[in-house]
Amino acid sequence: MPEDAIPEGDESSRPRRWGYERFRDLFSARQLLGLETSARIIGRVKDLRLRRALATNFSDLLRYQNMLCRYDMMALKSLDIFSIHGFPVSYVQVESNLLGIRNGNALPVGSGGWVNIIEKYTKAKRYCTEPFEVAFRGKTKITVPMRGEWIGERNPERPEAAERRIDIRCASATDVTLPPSSLDAVLTDPPYFGMVQYGELMHFCYVWLRKLMGENFPGLELVTTRHADELTGNETAERGLEHFAEGLANVYGRMARALRPGAPLVFTYHHNQQDAYLAVGMAILDAGLTCSASLPCPAEMGGSIHIHGTGSSILDTVFVCRQSGTTPRASLFTDAAGLAEIMSAEVADLCAAGMKPTSGDIRCMALGHITRMAIWRLKPAWNPKLATTEKFAIFRKTMNGIATADALQKRLEKTEAPVPAVVGSLFAQDETRNFADAVAF
Ligand SMILES: C[S@@+](CC[C@H](N)C(=O)[O-])C[C@H]1O[C@@H](n2cnc3c(N)ncnc32)[C@H](O)[C@@H]1O
Repeated sequence: MPEDAIPEGDESSRPRRWGYERFRDLFSARQLLGLETSARIIGRVKDLRLRRALATNFSDLLRYQNMLCRYDMMALKSLDIFSIHGFPVSYVQVESNLLGIRNGNALPVGSGGWVNIIEKYTKAKRYCTEPFEVAFRGKTKITVPMRGEWIGERNPERPEAAERRIDIRCASATDVTLPPSSLDAVLTDPPYFGMVQYGELMHFCYVWLRKLMGENFPGLELVTTRHADELTGNETAERGLEHFAEGLANVYGRMARALRPGAPLVFTYHHNQQDAYLAVGMAILDAGLTCSASLPCPAEMGGSIHIHGTGSSILDTVFVCRQSGTTPRASLFTDAAGLAEIMSAEVADLCAAGMKPTSGDIRCMALGHITRMAIWRLKPAWNPKLATTEKFAIFRKTMNGIATADALQKRLEKTEAPVPAVVGSLFAQDETRNFADAVAF
């Protein structure tokens, strides 16, 4: 078991305030015995592929086998340490059975035991060979197989076919160099400024994994997961909005140079503060791109306990950026009224998909669209050489000149969202909206 100390940090100072000094202090003696025994067994597995898979499962197990876990009274199971993106210390702790329990139908009960973890991993692996989409038929959730699609190196139905080549690197994207015009698309999910402290949180699992797999194992060479190049705002590490914006601009610039002409750079983002969008706007413009679409889309954390039932946002904006191309004229707007029109149609679509957008969602959607239009306006005369603070000021002024999230929230809260037309078949499009009229950029 690891002896590493818990360092100070925006998130990790909390357990320290409660008297936890080393990561191992976050586990009961019984959990430490179970985890160490598990790690020793995994360490003896000779097949590297299998040992790696078991180490991944072990890493998931750690999240449920520690004394920061709480019990979810609604779901009747334990919540993992990162059900909140932090180190929540609660008065009442829950300890899951290490091996896990199966019911009469041999299905795993609750969460957090080895049987639950292995079942989850098996499902993920099965998804790789038989991927599907989830949809609703009436109120019934159904899965729709994606025939012919698969994830992995070898085609599960045609093992003789050529292998796919993948290249996974554990490195900072700010250092990556790719050949020009070599990419068909870049699809990414950057940090949302200071929302999640990935480096601090993953340190919790990393100290165990490094001990288990060895410090020469690819990706585990460094002593800690904390890194000066991490693209997050972090007060303890004195990384502010400028660090985030400049880092993102660096990465997007590298990607833009590697994209084929007209190919998209697509990423998700979500924040309810305007400042966090200044960084996004600057990064896209510095990279020489424009934003051809900003699409609201349900985000991963819908079930998260700190978001559920609050006004917080569970929507991401998907930003689609290109050097050149076309965009539907109907998606352009110049003021709050124009934006309200676009957004009320989107809110109706989201309602049709079974979501009830909160005021936080409306705010995030508005900020996404306003960012898109500010980029659109600023692109022709953007000067990437200006100081970051100056670029922030220009971008903020342009956003505010178009509309503010507050104005949108007020405007939309007063109006009822239009009732969506009933969609008869899966994935049907709303034929009434005319996107045929396109504007080139
Ligand atoms: C929003 S998360 C992506 C989550 C991912 N889509 C998933 O489903 O697991 C952002 C990720 O960016 C990583 N990150 C932060 N700074 C980075 C950098 N300089 N280079 C590469 N990745 C970075 C974080 O560690 C984190 O894993």
